[in-house]
Amino acid sequence: MADQSQPLTGIGAAAGEHDHNRRDFLLLVAGAVGAVAAVSAAYVLVDTLNPAADVLAAGGPADVDLTKLAPGQQVVVLWRGRPIFVVDRTPELLKELQDPKLVDQLSDPNSTTDQQPPYARNWHRSIKPQYAVLVGVCTHLGCIPLFFPKPDPANPAPNWLGGYF
Ligand code: FES
Repeated sequence: MADQSQPLTGIGAAAGEHDHNRRDFLLLVAGAVGAVAAVSAAYVLVDTLNPAADVLAAGGPADVDLTKLAPGQQVVVLWRGRPIFVVDRTPELLKELQDPKLVDQLSDPNSTTDQQPPYARNWHRSIKPQYAVLVGVCTHLGCIPLFFPKPDPANPAPNWLGGYF
């Protein structure tokens, strides 16, 4: 039986050194494989937390190129299954919105109740007075109002001042 308290020399020492290098190599490979597996699992986990492409398409932001809107024109985009009206309001239309006769008919003329987002709590109810962005669904029973921007004494109703019908 060999004395294990004595250091190995010669062939035995070379074999011990070889085992030591092999163990280090195997530990290194196992560590690298473990690290790659951990990163892969973390990537898959984080990826499952992101919304699916169809969910993003349905609820994500809708882009509208405002440079293509003519003064007074409205475009309708679909967002979360609802029509969204984007209107380029003319200076005349904005002046009309401030007409005291019309303002007197509003229950909340300065939009101070919590119904509006903070950026729309103002007389024009928008970030920029020029652009109106509205959910195009009637609050009565959910019809989609038609846009008749020009005053017309007969169309779509007698004494029409212009707006949504
Ligand atoms: S739902 Fe009644 S007028 Fe629009």
